[in-house]
Formats: sequence, C-alpha cells, structure tokens
Amino acid sequence: MTTVGTSIRHSAFGTQVRNVFTRAQTAKRLLTAKGAKHAKTALALMLALLISQFCWSETGAEAWLRYHDLKTSSLPNLVAAVGKSAVVRNAADELVHALGNKPNAQGHARQLPSRDAFVLGVWKDIHPLFPELNRSLVPHGDGFWLKTVRHSSAKYWLIIGGNERGVLYGTFSLVERIAQQKDVSTLDDSQTPSALIRWVSEWDNVDGSIERGYAGRSIFFDNGAVWSDLTRVGKYARLLASIGVNGCSINNVNASPRIVAPEFIPQLARVADIFRPWGVKLAVSVDMSSPMVVGGLKTFDPIDPQVAAWWQHTADEIYKQIPDFGGFVVKADSEGRSGPSQYGRTASDAANVIARALKPHGGILLYRAFVYNHHLDWRDPKADRARAAYDYFHPLDGKFEDNVVIQIKYGPIDFQVREPASPLFGAMPHTSEAIELQVTQEYTGQQRHLVFLVPMWKQTLDFDMHVNGVSPVKQIIEGRTWHRPLGGFNTVVNVGMDENWLEHPLAMANLYGYGRLAWNPNLTSQAIAEEWTRLTFGNGTQVVSTVSQMLLSSWHIYESYTGPLGIGTLTDILGPHYGPGIESAERNGWGQWFRADSQGVGMDRTIATGTGYISQYSPAVEKIYEPLTNCPDDLLLFMHHVPYTHVLYSGKTAVQYFYDSHYDGAAQAAGLVAQWKTLKGQIDDERYSETLKRLEYQAGHAIVWRDAVVKWFNRISGIPDAQGRVGHNPNRIEAEDMQLSGYAPAEVTPWETASGGKAVACGQSSCSASFNFTRDSGSYDVAVQYFDQNNGVSQYQLFVNDRSVATWAADDHLPSDKMNGHTSTRHVIAGVQLRSGDVLKIVGRPDSGEPAPLDYVELISQAR
Ligand code: GCU
Repeated sequence: MTTVGTSIRHSAFGTQVRNVFTRAQTAKRLLTAKGAKHAKTALALMLALLISQFCWSETGAEAWLRYHDLKTSSLPNLVAAVGKSAVVRNAADELVHALGNKPNAQGHARQLPSRDAFVLGVWKDIHPLFPELNRSLVPHGDGFWLKTVRHSSAKYWLIIGGNERGVLYGTFSLVERIAQQKDVSTLDDSQTPSALIRWVSEWDNVDGSIERGYAGRSIFFDNGAVWSDLTRVGKYARLLASIGVNGCSINNVNASPRIVAPEFIPQLARVADIFRPWGVKLAVSVDMSSPMVVGGLKTFDPIDPQVAAWWQHTADEIYKQIPDFGGFVVKADSEGRSGPSQYGRTASDAANVIARALKPHGGILLYRAFVYNHHLDWRDPKADRARAAYDYFHPLDGKFEDNVVIQIKYGPIDFQVREPASPLFGAMPHTSEAIELQVTQEYTGQQRHLVFLVPMWKQTLDFDMHVNGVSPVKQIIEGRTWHRPLGGFNTVVNVGMDENWLEHPLAMANLYGYGRLAWNPNLTSQAIAEEWTRLTFGNGTQVVSTVSQMLLSSWHIYESYTGPLGIGTLTDILGPHYGPGIESAERNGWGQWFRADSQGVGMDRTIATGTGYISQYSPAVEKIYEPLTNCPDDLLLFMHHVPYTHVLYSGKTAVQYFYDSHYDGAAQAAGLVAQWKTLKGQIDDERYSETLKRLEYQAGHAIVWRDAVVKWFNRISGIPDAQGRVGHNPNRIEAEDMQLSGYAPAEVTPWETASGGKAVACGQSSCSASFNFTRDSGSYDVAVQYFDQNNGVSQYQLFVNDRSVATWAADDHLPSDKMNGHTSTRHVIAGVQLRSGDVLKIVGRPDSGEPAPLDYVELISQAR
C-alpha cells in the first residue's frame, strides 16, 4: 500500500510560531486566573497559523476533506473548545487543521478569550458563557447550531452541539461551507439530522477479504484478527464523521460467529477506541448460530433459556469493554445462513432474544428483512421472490422489542439498478424501520462504471407509500409516520486499502451523498452533486457544472445500456454480478427472473393475473402499478409481462425501446469521456488521468453490454431493430474471420458476450491475426476488443504492415478467468493513418492461463 495522507512542510515560520505560543501561554495564564466566572467550564484554546507552503499529492485519500486551499484569512485563528469531551477536543483539532496548521499552543481556560474566536461545545457548556442565546434554537441530539455573536469588542463563531457529536458535525459543516467559499461571516443555522440511525455496514471478513469489495482488502481485519495498525480506520472514521454517520458495523453480514468470541472482543474494543473521538459507534454483524459455535451450547434455538443467557452474557462482556457499543446487525434464514426457522421459530423470536440482551446497555439490533427462499420453483407462475420480505415480516409487525429495527433493502429484490420501493416500508406501523442502501456498486458497475446513486436513492426515499396520509419512505424510516422511537439508514460501504477508498475517483460521491441524505433526505441530488464536486475538485465554475452534470446523468446512462424498463440489471447473477450474463437470471431458484420468451418479457406481478405482489402496497399505490395503462415505463417489466410489441408511453414498442436505449446509453457513456476531457488542466493531473482511464474503460464496456443485450433480445424476439443496427457492424472485423497464425477460434459463454458468438485464443507462445484494410485511406480509431482475464497478463501488439503502432498488456483485474462479459475489454488506438491495401496485424502473447484472446477489431473513421 502506498502511504496515505499528506505532509505539511513548515517554512520560515519558526519565530512567529514561538511568538504565538508565548502569547498563548500568556492567554492561558490570564484565562485560568482566580477571578474566572465559570469555574466549572473547562476551556481549551488552540491557535492556528496559516501555513502557505504545502506539498500535496492528489491521491484521493483526502476525499472531500481537502483543506490546502481553504480561504481563511478573514477568519479568527483562535479556537476555543469548551468542556472536557474528547469528541469536542477532536472537533477543535479538526478546525485548527482546517484553518491551516496543527495547534501551535493549547491551554485550559475558564472564560472566554477576549478576541475573535471560534467557540465549540455542547449547549450545557456554552450556555453559561452566552446566557443571552435563545433556548428554542438549541439543537437536539446529534444536531448543531452555528451562530455568530458579539461580546464587547470580540466576535465569536459558536459551534453548539445538542451533544458532543453535534459539535463535531457542526464543525465539519462550518469547514465545508468555508471550502465551498460560502459567506460564514454571519451565521445562524440550526440543524438536526433526520434520523437517529445513520450507519454504514462494511462487509469485511476477518481473513481480510471483503464480500463484494472492489477497492482492495479490509482496513479492519487481516489474517483472522483486527489489524494492529488502525491508522486507516481512524481516517475512515473521520470521513464518516464529516458526513454525519454515527455508527459502523465492521464485518460481513454473512458473519463469522467468531466475531463475538471472548478472545475477539478486546480486538473490537481497539476499533471502538479509534472510532470514539469521531462519534462513530462500533457495531458488528452476528451469526444466529453463535451460541452453538462459539458458546458450545447444543442449540441456538432463540427461545431456549440457555441461548438467551449466552446472548446476555456476550452482550455484557462487550459492554464491559466497549461501553458505547452500538449493537448488532443480523442476517438470518437468508441465502443459506442459519436462522430461527431451523427450530420453527420466527424472526421476532430471533431478534428479541438478542435485543433483550442489548437493551440494558442501550444497544440496538438491526434485523435484516432480506429473507427469501433461494430455491424457488421457477416453473410456478405464482412464485415471486419480490413478495418474500413482506410475506415474512408483515405478520410479525408489533412483535419486536422496541430496540429492534427492521432493516429493509430499498427494493424487494436485491440492489438492482431500478426497483420499486419495497412494500414492506408501508406495512409495519408498530415496528421501527431502517432503509438499507448500497454505496458499494455491486450491481451498478462495481466502481468501474460511473454511477451516482443519490438520484436512485432519492426516488425511493421520496416515494409516497400512501399508508398514513402522505407517507414517503423517508418519513416512515425517520419514525415520524408512526411515531416510532427508532429508525434510519444503513448502507453497505466496502472501502478498502485502495488509497482513494473506493477505487473509482468519482465513486466517493456516493459515500458523501449517502451521509448527506441520511442527515437530510430533502436535499436535492443536484445540491449534493455540486457540494461534493466543490469539496473534491474545487470551486471552478466549469468543473462544478461538468462534474455534477456527469454525476447526475450517470445512473440513467448505466440503466440504459444494462437493464431499462425495470427488467433488472441483466448481469451474470450466478457469477460476480458485473458484466452481462442475461440468461443467468432465468430458470433457477434465485428468483431474479424476467421471464422472456419468444412472445414477450417481464414478471407479471399483478393482482389480476400475476403473483399478486402489487397487493402488498396500499390501494393508492396499487392503482399506480396494477393497470398496464397506468404503470410507469421505467418499472413496466418489473410489474407486467408484455408482448415485445407493447407500445410504451414514448410511442415506441418495448423491444425497440430496448434497442434504442442500449445504443443511446452506450453513446452517452462515450459522451462522459468527452465531457471529462473538457476539464483537462482544470483538475490535477493525477485525478484527471485516473478518472479518464476509468471512463474510457466504461465507454468500451458499455458497448459490450449494449451488444450482448440487444443481440439476445433480437434473437429471442425475432424482431429486427427498426434502425438496422443490431447484428450489423460494418466497421467490425471478427477475429475468427481474420487470417490466423497460431490463433484458433474459441466458443465464448454466454454466446452474446462475444461479437459473432466467437473469439480466438492462442495456444502457443505467440500468435497473430491479420486482415487487409480495404476502406478509404484516412485516419481511423482502431478499437481492439479482447478479453482481459484475471489468470494472466497477455501482451498485445498492433502492426500496420510491419510497423508497430501500439503495445498493451491485459493487466486489469476483472472478476473472471474466462472469456465473457466480465472480461471483454476495448483498447482504442486513436488516429491511426491507414491506406487502402495496408495489412493490420495483432500479435498476442499469452501468459499463464490467459490465451491472449481476441474478439474483433473495429475501425472508426475520423472523417465522419
Ligand atoms: C447480495 C449479495 C451478497 C450478500 C447479500 C446480502 O445478494 O450478492 O453477497 O450477502 O446481498 O445482502 O445479504
């Protein structure tokens, strides 16, 4: 791993630093003098100096907390932390850091500094110093109040927290305003977060691997234990705090029972110690069978008193070592995990036995509603995985302890590119609920494709379930609709050892956006996109408008070239969930069917003729989805089975929409590259090129997606593309049609992921494939489509006649060791001069198991 972080170089400030320090010492003596008015208030002073010289390397490690060019000259350089809280002190340190330096001096004081200063503290500590403040504006809980006040000749920027976390959040909010060049000279802003639970859930395994992790190995675990060096965990906690996240469950929901073993608890305590100054509560995912596997009992039956005693004892032990422990997340009876059904018990039996153990300590239990049968009978037209969460949990409403929260994935299937809001949100008036989102882009391009998920999340959060007057999902999970004591948000975030946390430089917009929405789901996607861009790339007008526009369009673009009309992502669901693998969803027990046949496509979930899923919604929502004539196009195939010739609102037939959407989406993915290129010189070279590389890759992979999906639907429907594109690629030369030396044709599975259904593979140390160029002479982009498997690093070389034009290596880390939609990759050599009669030759040199596979070459004339 490369070093993470930045360095601060002190230049010619030595004398000044000493002077300031001396002044601070004097101030300290003054402020601790006997006559101090508020003897009980501890006040720490820190002086910040603006240091002008920094050495920055833009690795993305700083994420949105980049302080090096903050304009702070009009602000005070004195920071006063009131009270004894370590969190408040940490907030003060953060502010000093943002203002330009580490603290040069600190001291404890008992009264206000007599010159301009930032003053931080919780209400009960600040109020005695500013008795004139109006109590009605005092924030609750994690909320904060930013307020400027004058006292005689001094002006104070107050950061008042409802609790110590609120001080931290207020501090970050202030710093972020400064970074966005907002006017902070006069402030009076009180904010309270929407919900109590604003957690993230890492899917890290104790061996250091990460389930659905795309950015390196775990920052928490290695080789069966918590890392000894937790520096990176501290940096992550700081990022979480800066967006208002107050809890983090650090291990896979497919949990190792060992996580709560007695010898593991001290290791967890070390993580909690690192989280604590950032106001992040530690939580873990637990396995229901722990009482047996770890506790040595003969059963884990939730109603067995011995099992209850084991959970109680385990919770007591944890709280002894981690007094502020947040609680547990549970995945049970799901995808092969152990669960209460093994004893004929219910989710409420299981949840309650653990919740009761946590209750005396103030801990909570997030019980996941992701419970379904993954051995469904696909032949049964009434079988429907989408029904599962409601069918299972709705009858249990009101049977849970009040520290249980049912954690519901945003849609009823599984993090697909578009799903309706889960009907379960509207079906548990007597139970606390949390929404489960996924910053990890499992089904949305795995942080290789740009997909800004905030607009998708907002669509669910804003969706009115019509269950108790106006009742959008956001209001239900906040606990407001049914006056629940708990509620909120949890999201899967698989940050890893990659220096920039999530691998794609723009993927961090999702983590930032998650925190902002959990704080305030009423923020617009545009506001969040712009904020993130300003904080991440600076305030340049063109940068802000271009990057936010790219972010805001990206979800729809991805949906367009993968699975539009609510069909689901169409990825390989039996494999890594990345590239196209269309039929993988059909005819198996997993229930992600879209039921395409020669006549039509889509899941009939209607009440009249289908699975009845739509009846799980309130009558008002039923009316939106049940009538075919009313159902919105973007969820059409989720709700209805229609003939390919069904005419959509747009006036197109379903199948033609499918074709057009895929061509448009791929073209728009190429457009993202063009948009990004307009920012050259306006963004540092490091992040500019890292991002460009990924956007170019995405544009190539969007073509793989497009071709696979349109060919597949063209074959099954037998309906031609009205625009004649599908199956006609006049600029393409298939590798299997080239003159081959050493290369041999190879079948590709699934067939739709190779052009012409075939590729060529090399079975010796070097092979070549060549063809004559017979088109008009001119400048061409030469796109070579090959398969970059993860079991070798093949080398490729392109020759025109005998002149070498390009060399490259298949050295990406794509998630397959086979030729398929995950590995199909495009290498473009721009602006190659070709004359009619030239011979183009590609030489491939295999490596290990990777046979330098080639699919085709496409020649795109630049004259067009
Ligand atoms: C998805 C994901 C699994 C995960 C599961 C869950 O199905 O592919 O890796 O375990 O969700 O949310 O529990």
